[in-house]
Amino acid sequence: MLQDKITQYTQEIEAFAPNSAHDVEAFRLKFLVSKGVVKSLFEEFKTVSSEEKRVLGKVLNEFKQLAENKFKEASEQFNNAADSGQNKSEGDLTLPGEGFQVGSRHPLSLVRKEIVEIFKKLGFVVAEGNEIEDDWHNFSALNFAPEHPARDMQDTFFVKKQDGNDVVLRTHTSSVQVRLMENGQPPFRAIMPGRVYRNEAISARAHCFFHQVEGLYVDEEVSFADLKQTLYHFVKELYGEDTKVRFRPSYFPFTEPSAEMDISCSICKGAGCQMCKQSGWVEILGCGMVDPNVLENCGIDSKKYSGYAFGMGIERITNLKYEIRDLRLFSENDVRFLSQFETEII
Ligand code: PHE
Repeated sequence: MLQDKITQYTQEIEAFAPNSAHDVEAFRLKFLVSKGVVKSLFEEFKTVSSEEKRVLGKVLNEFKQLAENKFKEASEQFNNAADSGQNKSEGDLTLPGEGFQVGSRHPLSLVRKEIVEIFKKLGFVVAEGNEIEDDWHNFSALNFAPEHPARDMQDTFFVKKQDGNDVVLRTHTSSVQVRLMENGQPPFRAIMPGRVYRNEAISARAHCFFHQVEGLYVDEEVSFADLKQTLYHFVKELYGEDTKVRFRPSYFPFTEPSAEMDISCSICKGAGCQMCKQSGWVEILGCGMVDPNVLENCGIDSKKYSGYAFGMGIERITNLKYEIRDLRLFSENDVRFLSQFETEII
């Protein structure tokens, strides 16, 4: 057996005729490394009978010699070729160095940071929750009725677990409100950025994941006027003093009353363009007064405390800032797109 192998490998080595340094390296890896053929034959040698050892010891040593000589010969052949003529390995030391490209911040990170900074100056702290949530935090605690259509399979990614405690990929950052309120008592004043998921077909206008920033303020005597004032300030900081703002009544299970907020289109300044579908206005967030049921679900006395909440999509805000018309650009990681934004580390 061992003898046969040695004979066979000997033939292979004798026939070895490399065409490149690459072939030589392949030879070394096959025969000469610690898990290579030569070592493994020596291992096998330990297991044969002592008569065989007497005969094969010499044969095996010769085989080893052959493999090493062949490798030496072959590597000299190719190294010499590489070294002939100019000595390339040293290179031309007078050439200028190769510059390296400095990366740039992703536009969504830039805008998220900008949003967070505005609220931090108003005393909001940053909070985070989980992207994988349970039904309670994403829906039930937020006052969604059991048969509410938003729980529908079409909007939510449900993840079946073996233990029966199925989970969802959170569909909004409102779940972080619940996590925050469950773990303390008012006052709460937090800003909560994060990624959210919805079961949507991917197109220029929809994606299966995107980013939101949630805001929550709960204390004694918080009013809708506080909410409006805070959001007015936010919009003017982000889009400039001359930006107009309007609120429209809306519905969310977790706020009452609820509203959506529009701003005058930052691209055409309200004159009408493709971005605002000629209306001059674009919706940028949903908001309202935290529903007393939500406060109670989180163990907070709704007679004593009130609060407001708002949630906005970072992609939408970014699109309006940079006139981006296709959501897919944000996740394709094409450097030609990404490098157009600020490179400065902020
Ligand atoms: N969670 C809502 C959404 O995903 C936004 C929202 C947040 C509305 C907070 C009101 C209050 O659209």
